[in-house]
Amino acid sequence: MDHSDRIADLVESLTRAEKLALVHGAPDPDGTATGYLPGVDRVGVPELKLADGPLGVRTPGQAATAFPASIALAATFDDELARRQGAAIGREANARGQDVLLGPGLNLIRVPHCGRNFEYFSEDPVLTGAFAGAVVEGVQSEDVVATPKHFVANNQETKRTRVSADVSERALRECYLPGFRAAVDAGAGAMMTAYNRVNGTHVSDHHRLLTEILKDEWEFEGFVMSDWFGTETTVGAANAGLDLEMPGITSEEMMESFDMPDLELSDIDFGNADALPTPETAGTRMFAEPLDEAIDAGEVPEARLDDMVARILGQMERFGVLDDERNEGEIDTPEHRKIAEAVATRGTVLLENDGVLPLDDHADVAVVGPAANVAMLGGGGSSEMTAFDETPTVDGIRERSRGTVTYAQGVPEIEIPSFFDDIFGDDEEDGDGEPGDVAIDDAVEAARTADVAVVVVQDATTEAEDRDDLRLPGDQDDLVEAVAAANDRTVVVVQSSGPVELPWRDDVAAVVESWYPGQADGDAVASVLYGDADAGGRLPVTFAPESAYPATEPHQYPGVDDEVRYDEGVFVGYRHFDDTDAEPTYPFGHGLSYAEFDYRDVEMVDDETVRVTVENTSARDGREVVQAYVRPPRVADVDRPLREFAGHTAVEIPAGESVTVDVTLDDLAFRRYDESDGWTVDPGAYGVEVGRSSRDVRVETGVSR
Ligand code: GLC
Repeated sequence: MDHSDRIADLVESLTRAEKLALVHGAPDPDGTATGYLPGVDRVGVPELKLADGPLGVRTPGQAATAFPASIALAATFDDELARRQGAAIGREANARGQDVLLGPGLNLIRVPHCGRNFEYFSEDPVLTGAFAGAVVEGVQSEDVVATPKHFVANNQETKRTRVSADVSERALRECYLPGFRAAVDAGAGAMMTAYNRVNGTHVSDHHRLLTEILKDEWEFEGFVMSDWFGTETTVGAANAGLDLEMPGITSEEMMESFDMPDLELSDIDFGNADALPTPETAGTRMFAEPLDEAIDAGEVPEARLDDMVARILGQMERFGVLDDERNEGEIDTPEHRKIAEAVATRGTVLLENDGVLPLDDHADVAVVGPAANVAMLGGGGSSEMTAFDETPTVDGIRERSRGTVTYAQGVPEIEIPSFFDDIFGDDEEDGDGEPGDVAIDDAVEAARTADVAVVVVQDATTEAEDRDDLRLPGDQDDLVEAVAAANDRTVVVVQSSGPVELPWRDDVAAVVESWYPGQADGDAVASVLYGDADAGGRLPVTFAPESAYPATEPHQYPGVDDEVRYDEGVFVGYRHFDDTDAEPTYPFGHGLSYAEFDYRDVEMVDDETVRVTVENTSARDGREVVQAYVRPPRVADVDRPLREFAGHTAVEIPAGESVTVDVTLDDLAFRRYDESDGWTVDPGAYGVEVGRSSRDVRVETGVSR
């Protein structure tokens, strides 16, 4: 790759030692950055600071706006809002003196058990790409480098540093890579490699992925960093195209930088120890002395080191770091709080409603469940946030209601695993200290005497560990059943990382999915329950019984002998359910509105744009997410999904009015990747379905290719 003259000259002026200091991390003397490069004072290269993460900027011991989880953001189907959230996180990164945001996370949601699904967007590659691109554009609009992660096929946490994702080229191209391609096309300045192997080779050593595809084919001009302690070798990684070893310090130095010298990496409860970086990589600096020796030995070309440095300096120049033109940024502003609440509200999905919602302002409400007493900021791991201010669900309902609101905990608290309790201690009491009574009977009694019962339930997920099943943890299912038996106007609010099993769904009056809504939890949930906002969210993942998902055999997930065979191919998520007679509980794209919509007059206005008229036939304003799916022609000997999500447009439609909506069809929905011919668009007639979900098609048209 050619670099600007300034950068080329700067690299040429550096000594070998100075170059090496720029391609592996060092402890941050301020202790705020998770990744740190000291810069080169002699030639005026400033330090570079990197911080997590997808849900907000995390700097040890400091608060920041705790935005909703990425899956909640995707559930808004509102790319513009995603751009705004990205920009807000960028401003807060600036305010915290961080130059690089370690996010967005955008691995495809392949298995519902994955402990990090809350940090990712969707089971669909087109929707993933739309949000990956929007967040990258947002973050970088504030001159902060975005780092799409974890490139690629890091779709589980079980043995994440050891497993090999054995995935076909077609599935990689059609499903697992497109989100990252969209992030690169949006101008991402960095990329983070996954811990895992792909088809036997660690991604940090993977020349085909890092150089042939990412840098050559996609023309990525940024720098590729490893995940933390995720650089497996020196020569292999440097020659494969890895540019920066992170954190580039030993685990002891990392603990020192956390000011916790007596703590070992292995002391942190990462969930499963087998998800930890291997001891070999956790203790060394592959791109320090070993790289120096490898270059001297002729195993790594000096030009490769120059390119590594030039890529890093090039992005430092692009984003104003090299000239110390950093933005002031801003933190915890009213606008950021509004964005956090808007995303949480708009991402809330109304799954079932017999008419009990929206609630009457004056209804007496019994709020039940330990999850109601906290604001669900997220799961455990590197994305953990500390908010300046947060609204537990029950507080939001109390604030909004004009009736009486009681609270009963009902069952013991569900603990969210935390990486950082071990390091920084957990001096925060969970919840707001509202004295909860852990007897189900008391919750039942409270529900019996109220007009409506709202039971808030949650799952508990974390980085470095997958869920054992899709059931709600603890006695929450019993709690829901008992409350529903006492009050036939029971609403269940689910606050989860992704799909969970809802065995009581036919016994309750309404079910709402609000994911991990972040600091605005209670305000957003109340806004939807009382109908101040239409329930505008739609499912970016399929909900189904655990046994119905595609990767249910051990060799498919979590793998056998460290091999995970993606033999479902491109039939991930709704594509699988369309290909079998397995019925989803709630299909991809599903979400009820408080309004009612009719679709008519569908037409193709050109080869890639479908137009439809949508009428709000109800007496209240509504928000509709118009979705388009492409049905490819049948091709002999090629298994193609029945339909592929091709695009969406979200619109606000006032009561009784009609709007004309255009949806742009992503080219990916027409193409398939042929292992010998590459990208292929089969000639023939393509159906274009337009509707409210993958299973609620309202009108159809077609286009030929
Ligand atoms: C973690 C995560 C990655 C995070 C990094 C720094 O292990 O996999 O997402 O950005 O380390 O915390």
